[in-house]
Amino acid sequence: MNSKRCYSKVDQICLGVDQALKALFGQATTTGRAYPAENLKEPELTIEQQKHAASLMRINHAGEVSAQALYHGQGLVSRSSTVRENMRHAAVEEGDHLAWCSRRLTELGSHTSYLNPLWYMGSFAIGVTAGLVGDKWSLGFLAETEDQVVKHLDNQLKLLPSQDEKSYKILEQMQHDEAQHQNVAIEHGAAELPWIIKNMMRCTSKIMVKIAYWV
Ligand SMILES: [Fe+2]
Ligand SMILES: [Fe+2]
Repeated sequence: MNSKRCYSKVDQICLGVDQALKALFGQATTTGRAYPAENLKEPELTIEQQKHAASLMRINHAGEVSAQALYHGQGLVSRSSTVRENMRHAAVEEGDHLAWCSRRLTELGSHTSYLNPLWYMGSFAIGVTAGLVGDKWSLGFLAETEDQVVKHLDNQLKLLPSQDEKSYKILEQMQHDEAQHQNVAIEHGAAELPWIIKNMMRCTSKIMVKIAYWV
């Protein structure tokens, strides 16, 4: 598809609904990159460790659903076609993350978060709001989100059962990609967000992490 094609508002809304359904039903567009844990053996985990690893991967899957929604929301209202294209490209890479977390959850015998539609809708609304404020703030929001995700993944890597190299490899690759997304946002003129917004973002993600661990 030609990335420079101009979409009408109706086209954009239809595209948005299509993107949302694909993100929620495991059909998000991906780059087709290989599964980072492809060549690794399934680790021997106790029942408790397996449940714990699955809960952690459920959190990360829910985070990726939210990332899709944020990028879709921001991309929808962005004023600059360059920013819009960057959002679209990042969303496709987040699609890889979504597919990897989903596959790992299946391997661990568990399910994605039952609240994914809620995470998507909330994050989409936040993405649209950030996008409407203006591109430099939208990019600032994106850069801060990715910064917080990189730190969150650092913590998740420490919490995984040490034998679970498969989940570890996935999260490690995701962390690398999120840092790249942050750099791209900064290169395109991301503004530094006020501390109160950063704190609100941290609080919101803490609530989501606590809930998605269980449901
Ligand atoms: Fe991601
Ligand atoms: Fe990202």
